[in-house]
Amino acid sequence: MAVLGNLLPRLVFLLLLFVSSRAKVVTIDVQEAKNLIQAGYIYLDVRTVEEFVKGHVDAAKIINIPYLLGAPKSRVKNQDFLKDVSSACNKEDPLIVGCQIGVRSLNASIDLLADGFKNVKNMEGGYVEWVRNNFPVNTSVVVKEEL
Ligand SMILES: *[C@@H]1O[C@H](CO)[C@@H](O)[C@H](O)[C@H]1NC(C)=O
Ligand SMILES: *[C@@H]1O[C@H](CO)[C@@H](O)[C@H](O)[C@H]1NC(C)=O
Repeated sequence: MAVLGNLLPRLVFLLLLFVSSRAKVVTIDVQEAKNLIQAGYIYLDVRTVEEFVKGHVDAAKIINIPYLLGAPKSRVKNQDFLKDVSSACNKEDPLIVGCQIGVRSLNASIDLLADGFKNVKNMEGGYVEWVRNNFPVNTSVVVKEEL
């Protein structure tokens, strides 16, 4: 009992630490995301470049940095993700992280918070949910010259 009495506060502490580190990911719906974009948040689209150019959230400040790379069924984590976000944004910048349906953006948000980004919000439902709400999109394809 004495051992448990010693251990228990530590376990509770570790549990709280775990819960609070997970709970830091704030998830918002597309309506709130739209309001925050209008208020000046940067929209960080973590889908692939191919997905992005087909159509994306219409935001004044928008950045596309893929969280995963490759074809849909063989995607691998983009090892430069945090480095690339860090060169494009400051740790204090207000960011909304969005993807296609909200899976990649959640993982990306977890990684960004762990890397010290302070103002990260994960957009639930992703671009699909945004489109379902008839919110403004930009589908103008930018044709890049092949190198
Ligand atoms: C998200 O993270 C979990 C846990 O690390 C992992 O199992 C899963 O494959 C990741 N999914 C994506 C889309 O990155
Ligand atoms: C649409 O998005 C492209 C990048 O994909 C950008 O170059 C262009 O300026 C955007 N158009 C508008 C009207 O925001």
